[in-house]
Amino acid sequence: MIRCRDLEKIYEGGKAGWPALCGVSFSITPGESVAVTGPSGCGKSTLLNIIGLLDEPSGGGYEFDGLDAARMSDGERSAARLHRIGFVFQAFHLLNRLPAVENVCLPMMYAGETSEGMRRRAHELLARVGLKGKERKTPLELSGGERQRVAIARALANSPKLLLADEPTGNLDSASSREIMDILFGLVGEGMTVIIVTHDRELAVRAGRNIKMRDGKIESI
Ligand SMILES: Nc1ncnc2c1ncn2[C@@H]1O[C@H](COP(=O)(O)OP(=O)(O)OP(=O)(O)O)[C@@H](O)[C@H]1O
Ligand SMILES: [Mg+2]
Repeated sequence: MIRCRDLEKIYEGGKAGWPALCGVSFSITPGESVAVTGPSGCGKSTLLNIIGLLDEPSGGGYEFDGLDAARMSDGERSAARLHRIGFVFQAFHLLNRLPAVENVCLPMMYAGETSEGMRRRAHELLARVGLKGKERKTPLELSGGERQRVAIARALANSPKLLLADEPTGNLDSASSREIMDILFGLVGEGMTVIIVTHDRELAVRAGRNIKMRDGKIESI
């Protein structure tokens, strides 16, 4: 599903001569769960953004789902992000003025789903992450753990093949973290491919595979 070959990333305006990624190669097959760990600044988010087609490498090759990312047009990249990849971030990135259900509907709206269809699916997804009865609450009326559940439901809206999470439990207390982990690994149990960037050892050990990074390189895999 994912093939990275000799990935390099040099940010314009970044420290000269200091690539954020330097010769990163690995593959991930469908259904795998992978934790990406390593010290702050080692390139984890940079790697995840390239995998999620949010950013492009400066060198090397990246194949997503059999497609060479370098040959994808902007339209193909956004379509892949909308339909095939779900994103979950540490800071949730929800729209605070919209109720949970509307947040979950957004990706389906962009995908052209009917109003009734998206509402039904949003309710199902919110029930699945344990938020039945809280569909009309806005993010500001929900706890951190509940906000992250909304973000996971939103990430699942268009039935992606790949779920990417960048420190999904970074802002949560340990009880909420455990609940979010259970949801994420429940998805792995259903066959979802999941890549999680994390500082959380407990999360990392539950993943099928651990990619340890240091200074833009893979230290162990
Ligand atoms: N937009 C950018 N412009 C310039 N340099 C950047 C940019 N984003 C990241 N970097 C640099 O690239 C390197 C890798 O950053 P990255 O965000 O991938 O690290 P990280 O492993 O996710 O760290 P953290 O654990 O703190 O989130 C760092 O040296 C960082 O300063
Ligand atoms: Mg990061």
